[in-house]
Amino acid sequence: MKKTALLIALTAAISASAANAAGVSVSFACDSTGNGFNECKKGTDAWAAKTGNSVKLLQVPVDTGDRLALYQQQLGAKSSDVDVYMIDVVWPGIIGNSLLDLSKSVPAAQLASYFPAIVKNNTYDGKLVGVPWFTDGGLLYYRTDLMEKYGYKAAPTTWTELQAMATKIQAGERAANAKFTGFVFQGKNYEGLTCDALEWVASHGGGSIVDPTGKVTINNPQAVAAIKTIGSFVGTISPEAVTTYAEEDARNVFQSGSAAFMRNWPYAYALGQSADSPVKGKIGVAALPSGEGGKSTATLGGWQLGVNAYSKHPKEAADLVAYLTSSAEQKRRAISGSYSPTIPALYKDADVLKAAPFFGSLFNALSNASARPATATKGKYNQVSNAFASAVYNVLTKKQTAEAALAGAQAQITRIKGRGF
Ligand code: GLC
Repeated sequence: MKKTALLIALTAAISASAANAAGVSVSFACDSTGNGFNECKKGTDAWAAKTGNSVKLLQVPVDTGDRLALYQQQLGAKSSDVDVYMIDVVWPGIIGNSLLDLSKSVPAAQLASYFPAIVKNNTYDGKLVGVPWFTDGGLLYYRTDLMEKYGYKAAPTTWTELQAMATKIQAGERAANAKFTGFVFQGKNYEGLTCDALEWVASHGGGSIVDPTGKVTINNPQAVAAIKTIGSFVGTISPEAVTTYAEEDARNVFQSGSAAFMRNWPYAYALGQSADSPVKGKIGVAALPSGEGGKSTATLGGWQLGVNAYSKHPKEAADLVAYLTSSAEQKRRAISGSYSPTIPALYKDADVLKAAPFFGSLFNALSNASARPATATKGKYNQVSNAFASAVYNVLTKKQTAEAALAGAQAQITRIKGRGF
């Protein structure tokens, strides 16, 4: 999206919940992926009704990279237009200096209930710049009806097995549905590809692009093998068009019934199981496959709520954040939208497990999830991620070999490191 279009979209307040002349109006750049906007609105409506304030819910770009570019532009201009931002787990080091410290705005017991690693991740320069809202981990979705139809007892546990199963199911299903495909994922050149490709690389024992000490590690034989393997899926068990797919593109194909397997985040579950979904009741969720010499890896994603340091309503904004990140609201969102809570206790909650049974095993996957190298690369994370995603994209689109692309990424990320991280 062009910057001007983004600005117009953001300044257009498309929802003012419970406008109340006596209260303050807080603007909130929340979510737009899947049912994200509506789920944000349910939460802000409840807060507005409780406090007598109102919330202007802004329309935000779907792509996390576009969101970051827009927010950097606003915060760089010290704009007070947005009071509350929804912050990606990899952003605290990039925009943390323009966000308020919320450590005293959230009740101590609430703060103590979160995964400590997320609180640590969101602490920038000693300030809690984002309160954990929901976490994310990559998952393998599969069609339980097709597994049965083709005689498979369990989801694939290795990429090779996934390839074999997807090949067979795709060949069989194409007789009735020419568009049917084996495996869909996030193959577009953006942050989502960094997440997927980190899973491929780490699941082959190829590390995490840059290690925690800041050493650039991406050019290694396991990483090359990983990217080669998934590259070979494009045009075989995955459509060529997968290189234009973000989360929602993959979900639309899977949810319409035209794919056997999908890599996506937990939010896709609630939508896939919704009343009007063609695959309702036919969705299984498993850990992602592992590669040669590695183990199943989920990339750690997730979102926090932060308050603009230039906000004109910091008190009300912080109160909204404390409300939305509370256990009660996280539970509501887990049940209604399958957003994974940032509160470990909710993974044992009977109502949550009834709505999203896979949350029990997701808890283990999240505990072992692979973080993107945002902490090690500091304010340069976005540049590092772009270099990595572009290299992988070049392999998926057959512009470069995996060897050449990863050697190139290694050199480019080393140059970025030379400018400081
Ligand atoms: C999900 C994750 C986020 C990640 C994004 C990539 O929203 O929660 O961390 O950056 O996907 O598209």
